[in-house]
Amino acid sequence: MKAIVTGSNGFIGYNLCLALKRRHSEAVGVDDLSSGSPDNVVDGFQYVRAKVQDRLRMMELLREFRPDVVFHLAAIPRVSYSVENPYETAEANVMGTVSILDGIVAAELADSTRFVFSSSSSVYGGAEELPTPESHPCSPKSPYALEKWQSEQWCQVFAKLYDADTVCLRYFNVFGPHALFGGPYSTVLAAWLYHLYVDADYQPFLEGDGTQTRDFCFVDNVVQANISAATRKQRWHGEEINVAQGRSYSLLECRQMLERLAGRELPLARKPPRVGDVKHTLADISLAKEMLGYEPEIDFERQLSVMAEWYRTSYPAKQ
Ligand SMILES: NC(=O)c1ccc[n+]([C@@H]2O[C@H](COP(=O)([O-])OP(=O)(O)OC[C@H]3O[C@@H](n4cnc5c(N)ncnc54)[C@H](O)[C@@H]3O)[C@@H](O)[C@H]2O)c1
Repeated sequence: MKAIVTGSNGFIGYNLCLALKRRHSEAVGVDDLSSGSPDNVVDGFQYVRAKVQDRLRMMELLREFRPDVVFHLAAIPRVSYSVENPYETAEANVMGTVSILDGIVAAELADSTRFVFSSSSSVYGGAEELPTPESHPCSPKSPYALEKWQSEQWCQVFAKLYDADTVCLRYFNVFGPHALFGGPYSTVLAAWLYHLYVDADYQPFLEGDGTQTRDFCFVDNVVQANISAATRKQRWHGEEINVAQGRSYSLLECRQMLERLAGRELPLARKPPRVGDVKHTLADISLAKEMLGYEPEIDFERQLSVMAEWYRTSYPAKQ
């Protein structure tokens, strides 16, 4: 497979590139390094430092490389940042998507280049129905969520108007190796592991009573869903598909598991519940199973141990 991976130097993009390398695929990474690391590169892959909304640059790259698939992960994925900077995030997160879709059509690659879009469960805006199916109404509560939702609609319009081959994967909270504490999507898991393995001076905390539950999705499962979406022998028409584990754990359960792994207590300062926080998330992943042949690995304790080991041995030193 010949792939372009946007957001190649970020958390999920880097994990995807490592998996593509294991499959002997050829790839070009595109990243502006606004939050990604220059160290997250795979031997033998080519890297282009560019903004995805730079339409001419993207078109040129598409014309030259003629990929079988574009995995579009580049985004400014901070919800709070998008609230303060709606113009900047809309430009990167919506026009970045349109720029590549437009480039695929302009380079006359709509027949041969598939577009796999990284969307987000934030489009649901705090779903009441659990597990949440893709048919649940979307109600974006932030510019970021709206930008993801709009990008999905661009994927659908390009499929209808120009016969582009597009599919949208809605990730739930992703965790795993290379997820940095303090990164755009930093989860409690990253914060707690950071305290346990990297910097004991960092004071971890718990917001609320810890009974809130999350469908945490291991990054290998997200990678698997992307590769399946890219390689299925069918054309896509902008379908939205949840990508999660389909299981949820309370933060108190997560704490217990991490304490077991570390063999010591995880002292947590208590804070009031976060305003507007969703109490529970849980995805219905039956569509992913049906349409992607998705079979997530669901041994949460093992996945936590893999992430913990990465924090213990490989967490990047402070610059
Ligand atoms: N991590 C999660 O839990 C999660 C959940 C739902 C959706 N997503 C989506 O998955 C994708 C990857 O997320 P991640 O967690 O790896 O984030 P990340 O911040 O680690 O990676 C994003 C990468 O995109 C790059 N980038 C940002 N703006 C760019 C631009 N305009 N042009 C080129 N490169 C740009 C950054 O430098 C970074 O390397 C994002 O689209 C995100 O919205 C992530």
